[in-house]
Amino acid sequence: MRIEQLTYSIGAELTDVKLADAVHDDGLFAGIREALLKHRVLFLRDQDITREQHVAFARRFGELEDHPVAGSDPEHPGLVRIYKTPEQPNDRYENAWHADATWREAPQFGAVLRCVECPPVGGDTMWANMVLAYENLPEHVKTQIADLRGRHSIEASFGAAMPIEKRLALKAQFPDAEHPVVRTHPETGEKVLFVNAFTTHFTNYHTPARVRFGQDANPGAGELLRYLISQAYIPEYQVRWRWKKNSIAIWDNRSTQHYAVMDYPPCHRKMERAGIIGDKPY
Ligand code: SIN
Repeated sequence: MRIEQLTYSIGAELTDVKLADAVHDDGLFAGIREALLKHRVLFLRDQDITREQHVAFARRFGELEDHPVAGSDPEHPGLVRIYKTPEQPNDRYENAWHADATWREAPQFGAVLRCVECPPVGGDTMWANMVLAYENLPEHVKTQIADLRGRHSIEASFGAAMPIEKRLALKAQFPDAEHPVVRTHPETGEKVLFVNAFTTHFTNYHTPARVRFGQDANPGAGELLRYLISQAYIPEYQVRWRWKKNSIAIWDNRSTQHYAVMDYPPCHRKMERAGIIGDKPY
């Protein structure tokens, strides 16, 4: 297997490797896992694998989970279908910077995404290195956010376009989660800036040390949250991947965010994602 770094900050392409072999080859899988921790997102081309192989490879990292709104392949639980069709051109959930499922108590470890069909151009996906985003924050901001916690909501994101009864039922099933604004990567010990499009507000901002009068809370907290969320938008932290049929991306969801660019006219873009269950951030 050859590993070619794609930017100084994030991403590498793996060549001379068949992902199907890594289902059974422990040494090869260990090499891929090590590369994932180092580069945070890995890309491969021309992986003509079956859905069984896709699921089996992803399950080497851990158990898979379905998505409560996006449907899964009925024959392959855990394989979420992210299908855009000309009939549903406005389904735009993926074009916001996010880490997957941070509205869960235990957001995902990572994912393995395969392109089944894509537009001839456009429809790229971008990833950002949120360890670097944290490292480069001004010191006074690091101090300010050291103990802050954020609320992450499926209700306010995937639920927003639903009728109220359906939205409330979704929230009852997945109550908002609370996570540290700066999490520690459980394997590398790195600090990660952990707020994204699912984060609605800080839960412990309103303390005497931060808020002199009640009106300090909302503008101060809102501006700080927007500033932190916008760190993923910085090009120096990013890599951009152009899809072709049977291209694959594997990412560490604990230290990255991603954004699926919807710059293509109404057409088919079919992606299948095996999302791997993670652990509770600390
Ligand atoms: C996702 O947001 O997990 C999917 C990204 C994509 O469709 O490119």
